[in-house]
Amino acid sequence: MDKIVIEGGAHLRGEVVVSGAKNAALPLLASSLLTGGPCTFKNVPQLNDIATMGKLLVQLGCEVDTSGRTTVVAPPPASAARRRTFEAPYELVKTMRAGVLVLGPLVARFGRARVSLPGGCAIGERPIDQHLKGLQAMGAQVSLTHGYVECEARRLRGARIVLDIPTVTGCENLIMAAALASGVTIIENAAQEPEVEELAQVLVKMGAHIEGAGTAIIQVEGVDELHPIEHTILPDRIEAGTFLVAAAVTRGDVLVRNARADHLEAVIGKLREAGVHVAAEGDGLRVRHGGDLGQLDITTQPYPGFPTDMQAQFMVLCAVARGQSVIKEAIFEHRFMHVPELSRMGADIHVDGRVAVIRGVPRLGGAKVMATDLRASASLVLAGLVADGVTEVLRVYHLDRGYERIEKKLRGLGAHIRRAKA
Ligand code: EPU
Repeated sequence: MDKIVIEGGAHLRGEVVVSGAKNAALPLLASSLLTGGPCTFKNVPQLNDIATMGKLLVQLGCEVDTSGRTTVVAPPPASAARRRTFEAPYELVKTMRAGVLVLGPLVARFGRARVSLPGGCAIGERPIDQHLKGLQAMGAQVSLTHGYVECEARRLRGARIVLDIPTVTGCENLIMAAALASGVTIIENAAQEPEVEELAQVLVKMGAHIEGAGTAIIQVEGVDELHPIEHTILPDRIEAGTFLVAAAVTRGDVLVRNARADHLEAVIGKLREAGVHVAAEGDGLRVRHGGDLGQLDITTQPYPGFPTDMQAQFMVLCAVARGQSVIKEAIFEHRFMHVPELSRMGADIHVDGRVAVIRGVPRLGGAKVMATDLRASASLVLAGLVADGVTEVLRVYHLDRGYERIEKKLRGLGAHIRRAKA
């Protein structure tokens, strides 16, 4: 297993290019199951979660061909429904919850699916009741046996679905299911994340009729079949945000290329509030450190609010800012796993339930730290960049799920960082 070793203190300078968005690529790869031929995706990030989705699609009868950042997914023919059980096994879904994204497409196109229940994970309980409620409203028979969800429907039919929570993957599953249902589906309290909008745009390219994606009400009029497409995946707003914070906390001057200001408004707003200069430049955003970093008050929210996927990284900024900051995690109940590790590096953080109070300290000190989830790992790397001395981040496989060679990109900006065998 690898570790990341960082010698802190470098001011990051230069340009970094953001890769394709993991959380857009995952539903898009799954959406190939809805079509009658090979779909080509470009700018696919080279990440462990993407490889896991590839394995899952192969298991479901797809041919998956990856060359560099281009992935072609050829789904099985509709006639395969007679011969196959469409099963997403526990072994794959437990390593990547997004495996549940095959549920909607499989039921819609092949009439049945058996998908392992993802179970809890490091950041919270994360049930899929809203995904199932929606599919049931569309006429699917849903049962739970031996840790698996079994779903069946001869043909899904349109329905009005009011989500209790604007779940991102839940919404994506239901849009994909509704695309091949008979009649009109209306999803209210829908997730408005750019990745949901991107999925809807791709489904429309495939021939689907969808309106309202990117707003809280999405309307899908089902069609009989969808056709293959070619699509270039949008840049990863969370990777971009992570580099923006890296530049800010190291008092650097960095052009984050492909960072889309329209997808990062809440993040940019908080950086500016902390005194960081952020400006549009060329195809990205330029970040320059101003004076001292100032305290922040942050509550995570569904898009367009402040993203939970940036909470851990901003915790590092608050840890070295002047004054007392408050961060409330309103999306996931256990997403403060980075706090004890940051405390070991000298951060002054007190957690009470979903609220963390952070008193800025002048400096952090390098230490051996261990991450329990993807964004927590990213925050420990950022902490290592600003800390005095050497930081070793263990369990790098979490980082590799969602950041494409982060150490290489940071090294390009002048960080003293390397990957080594743990
Ligand atoms: N929830 C329910 N019932 C459901 C679905 C969700 O109670 O049926 C709850 C969850 O437990 C959570 C909240 O609703 O408290 C929001 O969860 P959501 O379903 O929106 O999250 P997700 O779809 O499982 C996606 C991203 C996450 C990101 C969240 C929130 C993908 C593949 N994953 O997860 O990304 O944190 O939305 O924005 O799109 C990451 O990239 O590190 C990551 C965890």
